[in-house]
Amino acid sequence: MTNSIHLLDKLNRPLRDLRISVTDKCNFRCTYCMPAEIFGPDYPFLKREQLLSFEEVERIARIFSENFGIKKIRLTGGEPLMRKDLPVLISKLSEIHGIEEIAMTTNGSLLPRYAEQLRDAGLKRVTVSLDSLNDELFGKMNGRGVTVDTVLAGIDAAARAGLGVKINMVVQKGVNESEIVPMASFFKEKGHIIRFIEFMDVGNTNQWNLDSVYPKKQIIEDINRAMPIEPIDPNYEGEVATRYRYVGSHEEIGVISSVTDAFCSSCNRARLSAEGQLYTCLFASRGHDLKTPLRSGLSDKEMQSIVENIWSNRHDRYSEERDELTNSSAVKKKVEMSHIGG
Ligand code: GTP
Ligand code: 5AD
Ligand code: SF4
Ligand code: SF4
Repeated sequence: MTNSIHLLDKLNRPLRDLRISVTDKCNFRCTYCMPAEIFGPDYPFLKREQLLSFEEVERIARIFSENFGIKKIRLTGGEPLMRKDLPVLISKLSEIHGIEEIAMTTNGSLLPRYAEQLRDAGLKRVTVSLDSLNDELFGKMNGRGVTVDTVLAGIDAAARAGLGVKINMVVQKGVNESEIVPMASFFKEKGHIIRFIEFMDVGNTNQWNLDSVYPKKQIIEDINRAMPIEPIDPNYEGEVATRYRYVGSHEEIGVISSVTDAFCSSCNRARLSAEGQLYTCLFASRGHDLKTPLRSGLSDKEMQSIVENIWSNRHDRYSEERDELTNSSAVKKKVEMSHIGG
C-alpha cells in the first residue's frame, strides 16, 4: 500500500469511515424517512445516468483507501438492494487492497433472495432496520404494510449465510417506545446485537420535534428494569453506539443518542451519495461534487487533493449545535436521509 496521509479536519478529527449510498430508492416508506405523501409515484428519484457507475464508486473507494487509509466501507441507500447487481459492486470493492470490511445497512426485505450472493461477493456484515415486532405498528411505520416476518426472514437468511447481523431500531416517542423491551428480549434470545436509535431531525420531511424523542436515559432505564445491564467500553474510536451488556452474560445492546448525548467530537465519517456528492455531516445542507471532477478526467492525485481540501476544511458538529440551529428562525434545508443512508 502507498503511504496514507493522516488527514485531520478543523476540529482534529481523522477520516476513518466511508459510507456509500448506492441508490436513493427504497421499497419501504418509513414515516420518519420517506413519508409516502411526499415520496409518491411522481417523486423525482435519481435517473440511472445521474448515479455513479460501479467503476466510479470503486475508483473513489480506492482513492480513499490508498491515500487516507480507509479500511471499512458501509453501503447504504435508500435501500441498497434496490440497486441492480449490487453483488458486482461488492466484489469490486472487496478486491481493493486495504479494505478490510464491507458492511451494509438494509431493511432486510430482499435478503432472503440475496444473502448468499452478497456473502460470496465479500460482504461481511449487515445491519437490518426493524422498529417493532407488532405487525400492525410495523406496517404503519414502514408505510407499506410490510410484515415483521418478512424482515425476520431476511435476518435469518443473513445469519444462515454467515453474515454478521445487527439490528437498528429507531425509537419514536408516542409511537413505538413500548416495543423497546420486547425487541431487546427477542434479539437477546436470537443472539443479535440490537441498537436503539433516538429519532433524529434528519431531512426536511419527518416532522421531527424534541417531544418525539425518547431519550437514551429512558431507553436504558426501561431495559434495565426488565433485564439488568451495565455499560461496556467502545469497540473502536468514533463508534456511534454506546454499548451495554446484560449483567452476567456476553449479550450486548447499543444506544445511539445523537439528540440527547451528541458524539460529534469523535465523528470520523464521510458520506458519498449515489450521485457522487461527498457529505461531511448527516445534517449537511450541501455536498461536495466529486462526480464532475471524476468525469472530467482528473488524475487520482488531483482527486485526492480535492478530498483533502474538503476534509481539512470540515467543521461540522450539527448535533452539538442542534438547539441553537433548530430554534433559529433561519432553519436550513438539509439533505434527505434517503440520499445519504444514515
Ligand atoms: P458499526 O459498523 O456496526 O459500528 O455500525 P455503525 O454504527 O457505523 O452503523 P449504522 O449505519 O447502523 O449506524 C446506525 C445509525 O446511527 C445510522 O443509521 C444513523 O441513524 C446513526 N448514525 C450513524 N452515524 C452517525 C453520525 O455520524 N451522526 C449521527 N448523528 N448519527 C449517525
Ligand atoms: N432518525 C433516526 N434514525 C433514522 N434512520 C432513518 N431515519 C432516521 C431518523 N429520522 C435509520 C433507519 C436505518 C438507518 C438507515 O437510519 O432506521 O436503520
Ligand atoms: Fe427505506 Fe430505510 Fe428509509 Fe425505511 S429508513 S424508508 S427502509 S431507507
Ligand atoms: Fe458527525 Fe454530523 Fe452526526 Fe455530528 S451530527 S456526529 S458531525 S454526522
